[in-house]
Amino acid sequence: MQSTSEGVTTASTRGQWGSKLGFILAAAGSAVGLGNIWRFPYMTGENGGAAFVVVYLLCVLLIGLPLMFNELALGRRSGKDVIGAFRVTKPGTPFVITGVFCLACCFFVLSYYAVIAGWTVGYAIASLLHTKVEFERFAARPEFVLPLFGFFILMTILIVQGGVEKGIEKWSKVLMPVLIVLCGVVIIRSVTLEGAGAGIKYYLHPDFSKINGDVVMKALGQAFFSLSVGWGLMITYGSYMSKRQDIVTGGIWVAGMDTFVAIMGGFMVFPAVFAFGLAPDAGTALTFKTLPSVFEQMPAGQLVGAAFFLLLGIAALTSTISMLEVPVAWLVDEKKWSRKKSAWLVGGAAFVVGLPSALSVGGVEWLTKVQFLGKTGFLDIMDHIFGTAIILLICLLCSVYVGWSWGPKHAVEEMSASNSWFARPLLAGLSPATVWVWFIRIVCPLIVSLMLLNMFGVKFF
Ligand code: PFF
Repeated sequence: MQSTSEGVTTASTRGQWGSKLGFILAAAGSAVGLGNIWRFPYMTGENGGAAFVVVYLLCVLLIGLPLMFNELALGRRSGKDVIGAFRVTKPGTPFVITGVFCLACCFFVLSYYAVIAGWTVGYAIASLLHTKVEFERFAARPEFVLPLFGFFILMTILIVQGGVEKGIEKWSKVLMPVLIVLCGVVIIRSVTLEGAGAGIKYYLHPDFSKINGDVVMKALGQAFFSLSVGWGLMITYGSYMSKRQDIVTGGIWVAGMDTFVAIMGGFMVFPAVFAFGLAPDAGTALTFKTLPSVFEQMPAGQLVGAAFFLLLGIAALTSTISMLEVPVAWLVDEKKWSRKKSAWLVGGAAFVVGLPSALSVGGVEWLTKVQFLGKTGFLDIMDHIFGTAIILLICLLCSVYVGWSWGPKHAVEEMSASNSWFARPLLAGLSPATVWVWFIRIVCPLIVSLMLLNMFGVKFF
């Protein structure tokens, strides 16, 4: 490993993205996944429709994007994994605990995310076989759900063991654009269904009286989930960026694409929900219940349905790859394990830990009915703890670390190194960098803290 005068390791001895586009597509591949097409519509449906969408967009722009820059800058400056990034930038800092949370989040979310990804593969197969799937009955059958879950984890392991450029980058480049085209096809059918207008109105006309602390908290949590911010993922992917790549425009592209696909997810689901008289607040099953009915109304619907669920599975695969990559990068960097051994061990463990989630949607009664923190079912509880609460905590710690401990000037240096406008005064003598520093020191920690308090019952509105 090479070290600079600050004791910062350069990325040259580790994996590195082959091109700027490679990074953008791999990071967007991580961001775009089930979060956009499964989680975003059901969150929107449960939390007030269009008003949620407005709050979500503000969360992405004002909190998610500044934090994405933050993680990328920390990753590239250190050239390290989620633990090493803190150790190297400030030896002895207690903030390394943030890295431990990142490892835990990626691992535990991988364990249940791959279960849902397995469902999409099941739906693709059923579509091809012309079989109509009833969600509750399908998800409750271990003989279907477990092999699909196992298959998904296996695919993830095989790609991650191939490494950064050969594995992750190559796959993302091809598959992302195809998914976006197919989403467009589904939207055209969905919005032209009879009765779709009510769904479009629900999705686009906000009723601001629906906004309260809980809605904002869910929107912020969803923004972090969807952007892959608050998991250390952008630290890890930032560490594979070369010094010539522009963090700021790269981050804007990734967040833009992710948000675009999430908005598309809503356009696929809501017009159809209303056209078929379904309930928008049906929860986790919403996408799985709605879209098959859309495909039924299409010429060659079975084929389109199969292609769609397959591509959704692939979008989920580029996400699970990145979740596995975070702990694997740590083991390779810090413990000097081989990529192969790390991928198999962590992936295998995620499979074992994911079994209760896989059996908790009807498969085993007590796992389905177990309650904790107001959530019912093992999978939902995991999603609440690791997919929302701990991510908020990580985002808080990352912003306080860079804003107040390591110092935002290092991050600004990193961001302006390969960008010509970030540190230049653009408006009223203020540069984007100055504004960013304000956000990272004050706005982000404040809002995220309020949301964490809200989550634990201290409600401000
Ligand atoms: N952003 C992904 C999605 O929306 O499905 C989920 C995710 C993947 C989060 C990978 C974090 C991560 F490291």
